[in-house]
Amino acid sequence: MQRFGIWVIVGVLALVLGGGLQTGQAQTQDQCRTCHRELLEDTPSQKYVNDVHFQKGISCAGCHGGDPTQADMDAAMDPKKGYIGVPKGAQITQTCNACHANESRMAQWASSIDTIQFQRFETSVHGKADVATCVSCHDVHEIRSSRDPQSPTYPTREVFLCARCHADPAYMRKFNPALPTDQLEKYWTSRHGQRLQQGDTRVATCSDCHTAHTIYPPKDPRSSVYAVNVPIMCARCHSDPAYMKPYGIPTNQYDLYASTAHGRALLEKHDTGAPACNDCHGNHGAMPPGVQTLSHVCGLCHTLNAEYFSKSPHAAAFEKKGLPQCEACHGNHEVPTTSLDQLQPEAPVFMCRKCHSMDDKGTQVARMMYETIRRLVILEEEARRLLTAAEQKGMDVADAWFQLRDVHNAYLKARTVVHTSDPAEVQKVVEPAVQTAEQARTAGQRALAEFDFRRKGFAFATLWITLLVIALYLKIRQIEARSRDKRLKP
Ligand code: HEC
Ligand code: HEC
Ligand code: HEC
Ligand code: HEC
Ligand code: HEC
Ligand code: HEC
Ligand code: HEC
Ligand code: HEC
Ligand code: HEC
Ligand code: HEC
Ligand code: HEC
Repeated sequence: MQRFGIWVIVGVLALVLGGGLQTGQAQTQDQCRTCHRELLEDTPSQKYVNDVHFQKGISCAGCHGGDPTQADMDAAMDPKKGYIGVPKGAQITQTCNACHANESRMAQWASSIDTIQFQRFETSVHGKADVATCVSCHDVHEIRSSRDPQSPTYPTREVFLCARCHADPAYMRKFNPALPTDQLEKYWTSRHGQRLQQGDTRVATCSDCHTAHTIYPPKDPRSSVYAVNVPIMCARCHSDPAYMKPYGIPTNQYDLYASTAHGRALLEKHDTGAPACNDCHGNHGAMPPGVQTLSHVCGLCHTLNAEYFSKSPHAAAFEKKGLPQCEACHGNHEVPTTSLDQLQPEAPVFMCRKCHSMDDKGTQVARMMYETIRRLVILEEEARRLLTAAEQKGMDVADAWFQLRDVHNAYLKARTVVHTSDPAEVQKVVEPAVQTAEQARTAGQRALAEFDFRRKGFAFATLWITLLVIALYLKIRQIEARSRDKRLKP
């Protein structure tokens, strides 16, 4: 116990002395700052006391080079000692990255800040075009941690930092005239923006979605806002129950989304036509153009479904009741794969049950639509089976396959027309297809019958030829026997 106590005291002393020595030494030995502050009283040296690098014991020479132990100006600011003067343009980024992109150098200060983001900075939109250098965003000589409310990169100030360029049309036009300049304006209309305005720094700010140092255009697969990368990016906060606890909203959006139609199409098949979170919620929080309520967003992609829905008795009824158009039946994050059974009153997945009783008009209509489409499905399956069999036997049924394609298209259309909730409309699409399907089925039956006929014909012909050959053989034997008899006769 006593020995332990001594070690604790020694340890604490070592820490205090060691730490103090390190910064103290560097700072008293920093002749650069001493001369600049006391003789020149220049702004850089005045500001530097507030800089994180000063607090870490880094001298002016850490960035400008030279020898900070020399009190003599020429000896200190000697290019032979690495003095570079005032860095300009891309040289600034190189100066900062000499430490920040170098893992072993940062380890000298036991820093845990990831260095890879800085190695990539020069390939990003801001680094590559030499649009911005590190000091465009962090200032210089008064560089602060982004957890410091006075830092330009602190969340409540960061949105203005990005907007300084991005909300300035005249400036942005010089680089990329096609780029919108309304991100901040839209951001304020979002829940994220509204809460940030109230001082809540847990919401998403520009760099939460875009990153700070590895920003690429949204179409670039390396970008954090590339469609396929968006859901997991939003999920970083929205699927974290501890993080979202103060707000009391669900945290299952990603799981529901990723396991059903849209998420699977985007995340597994990389079908960028399927919606990511931002296609429904807007990029910067505002609703996509032309959408009054989130509910109308589905119709931006599923235009026909929306059109038929608007003709259905539900359109007016849902609006009156304040029900969301499509989500009332399909859900929003969890959009299960659809099937015809959703219209079958006895099926577990029967969709209309949510609001209709088993004997009302809605259920009757569902049953009628189900039976109409089901009839087509059965016919199509039958025709497909016959045509496959015929094809395997080598019969030419190409024309009938062609007909069957039309039948399938009619089936797909019928599933969309279902949204009118009008059995007559469904019938109109299905009826002609039923006839076509019957034709294709008949073609299949005919082809198989013909095959049978040919096979029987072939067997008959084979038998006939065999008999003929035997008869010929017998005849020849007979002739031979006869001529032998003749020769033997005296
Ligand atoms: C004894 C005083 C003195 C010391 C020590 C000193 N400087 Fe200077 N420094 C000056 C003066 C005076 C100027 C302005 C005159 C000039 O530009 O030559 C200056 C200018 C500068 C400039 C601006 C140059 C420019 O082109 O505008 C930088 C950067 C600089 N010093 C960095 C340093 C660094 C880094 C050190 C330490 C390694 C250092 N100084 C040490 C006196 C000093
Ligand atoms: C973290 C890196 C860094 C440190 C540390 C640093 N500087 Fe600088 N300094 C720069 C950069 C980068 C510029 C160029 C800024 C620009 O172009 O906007 C610069 C510019 C200057 C200039 C010329 C422009 C001006 O603002 O007058 C002087 C003088 C200067 N620094 C002096 C100093 C002195 C003195 C110290 C120490 C007290 C110091 N610097 C510490 C990075 C640093
Ligand atoms: C001599 C090495 C060195 C150079 C050069 C350097 N830095 Fe640093 N910087 C550090 C160290 C060490 C820290 C503290 C890291 C930590 O706390 O984990 C730091 C911290 C920072 C932080 C605060 C990080 C945080 O949130 O805690 C910012 C911002 C920063 N540097 C930006 C710059 C910029 C911009 C430049 C160039 C103008 C630059 N640095 C040049 C070593 C350097
Ligand atoms: C477009 C503006 C912008 C540019 C350019 C920029 N930064 Fe940052 N930086 C930020 C923002 C915003 C944050 C805070 C958010 C974050 O950490 O993701 C930040 C955070 C940091 C941090 C703390 C990172 C951490 O993980 O805690 C360091 C260190 C840093 N920047 C250094 C640099 C260096 C070095 C450069 C140049 C290579 C640079 N920055 C260029 C905006 C910028
Ligand atoms: C110094 C001005 C400046 C600042 C500050 C700035 N940007 Fe940029 N940014 C630009 C310019 C200019 C471009 C266009 C580059 C090009 O297309 O060549 C750009 C491009 C982008 C792009 C890619 C757009 C596209 O579709 O090509 C994104 C995303 C972006 N910036 C986000 C941010 C974020 C987030 C911040 C704040 C952390 C920020 N910017 C801060 C000037 C700036
Ligand atoms: C909630 C996440 C989120 C926040 C917060 C956010 N963005 Fe975006 N941003 C996106 C997404 C997603 C896209 C990509 C849209 C696409 O696929 O075209 C985007 C696109 C962009 C673009 C490309 C041009 C455009 O408007 O489509 C720029 C520039 C941009 N953002 C800047 C910013 C700035 C500046 C801020 C802060 C004021 C910001 N963003 C805040 C998610 C966000
Ligand atoms: C940095 C964490 C963070 C990120 C990243 C983030 N959000 Fe949020 N979001 C929040 C917080 C915190 C709230 C506030 C919750 C509230 O007010 O109910 C919020 C609110 C929302 C809301 C309003 C919820 C409501 O209460 O009705 C929506 C919608 C939303 N975010 C969508 C997104 C989308 C889409 C993305 C990705 C493009 C995203 N968020 C990225 C933290 C984040
Ligand atoms: C197909 C469109 C669509 C997609 C894709 C989508 N959402 Fe939603 N989201 C909605 C609708 C509709 C609502 C309900 C809005 C309302 O009731 O005002 C909603 C509600 C929310 C809410 C509020 C809380 C809740 O659960 O009701 C959050 C947070 C949210 N979404 C986040 C996300 C995130 C994160 C993603 C991506 C993983 C995502 N959304 C993908 C349409 C979508
Ligand atoms: C950005 C375009 C887009 C938006 C917005 C969109 N979807 Fe989709 N949706 C698709 C694509 C693409 C598919 C096909 C996915 C696949 O390959 O299975 C699809 C598939 C579907 C399916 C069929 C699932 C199946 O395979 O049976 C339903 C139902 C659906 N979406 C409903 C909705 C609803 C409800 C909304 C609004 C809350 C919505 N969609 C918003 C593009 C979109
Ligand atoms: C009254 C309930 C109901 C409403 C409201 C509804 N649907 Fe459907 N939807 C269904 C049923 C049932 C099916 C399955 C039909 C089938 O597979 O035969 C379906 C199938 C679909 C499909 C897959 C078939 C196809 O058309 O490609 C999509 C996509 C779809 N709905 C989108 C939407 C959209 C978008 C809206 C809003 C405009 C919407 N639905 C509103 C019941 C509904
Ligand atoms: C979210 C609730 C909801 C769901 C789910 C729903 N309906 Fe309805 N439906 C209504 C409401 C509300 C009305 C109008 C009120 C009324 O007349 O009973 C209505 C009316 C109808 C009508 C007109 C009834 C009449 O008396 O003229 C038909 C037909 C109909 N629905 C068919 C369907 C079919 C088919 C499904 C399943 C694919 C379905 N509905 C699913 C809520 C729903």
